[in-house]
Amino acid sequence: MPKEKKKKKKPKKPKIQWKTALQVLEERKNLERLKTGTALDELIGGGIQQTEVVEFYGPYGSGKSQLCMTMTVIVAGQGGEVVYIDTEDTFNPERVKEIAEKRGYDPNEIFKHIHLAEPLTTDELAESIDQIPKNLNPTLIIVDSITSLYREEFIGRNVLSERQGLLRQFIVKLKKYVREKKCYGIVTNQVYDVPDATPFTPLYIRQQAVGGHSLYHLIDNRIFLRKAVHGTRIGRLVDSSRYPEAERPFKITDRGIEPIEEDSEE
Ligand code: GTP
Ligand code: MG
Repeated sequence: MPKEKKKKKKPKKPKIQWKTALQVLEERKNLERLKTGTALDELIGGGIQQTEVVEFYGPYGSGKSQLCMTMTVIVAGQGGEVVYIDTEDTFNPERVKEIAEKRGYDPNEIFKHIHLAEPLTTDELAESIDQIPKNLNPTLIIVDSITSLYREEFIGRNVLSERQGLLRQFIVKLKKYVREKKCYGIVTNQVYDVPDATPFTPLYIRQQAVGGHSLYHLIDNRIFLRKAVHGTRIGRLVDSSRYPEAERPFKITDRGIEPIEEDSEE
């Protein structure tokens, strides 16, 4: 019997969807927004838009993880599923319980909606996006933080470009997931001190997000958090392609992140 020639399979070409600008505008109008309930929402057009990843970066204690846990309670309180990827072992169930109770929720109900992964390596981090259960359909995905594992694994200038490449790949993967699932994305990031800064250099210039310029083009809305007087915090929208640079305050209380009352003395 003559041997059947094996036909080489041509790789499938991706299908490109063309849209008019009007369609894009209409699609955006239909996207919902997730509100933090603080003035930070004003920085980004009224809250985090569906399909969008917002980065909160800042120094130690600036409130990044507190913000993540508060947003978790807000979403879970509305019945949404939250994927929480914790690379720093700072997800604190007792704190989530406190925020939930103070906001009038049953913490046990809230906990059921939180799906936690604690990757220990950059490989595990990338896998944790790939392995989000297919039937989960999260409303919110959080990565606290995106850079810490890359910083720990890739030390020194000779591995810098490899580190940047993998970090970019991870962010692209996350953005793709958030877009496809039409959910909200929150990532946090640490800062490093710019070496040639002077005491007159503003803090948001002196302290840059880890990951350098290569990340600036990947994440649209980046908010720099810093401590301010009387335990308050300030968020500054930096380098957004969509909204003007501006600053707004908030505070951290037993209810998580909260607005500052207009007539408060703080
Ligand atoms: P790193 O992860 O270390 O880079 O910092 P971070 O930006 O994630 O800081 P985090 O969100 O953990 O903020 C810690 C700060 O939140 C503490 O220094 C406290 O000031 C504040 N905080 C934490 N819990 C409470 C609380 O129950 N009540 C109040 N008022 N403040 C709290
Ligand atoms: Mg933290």
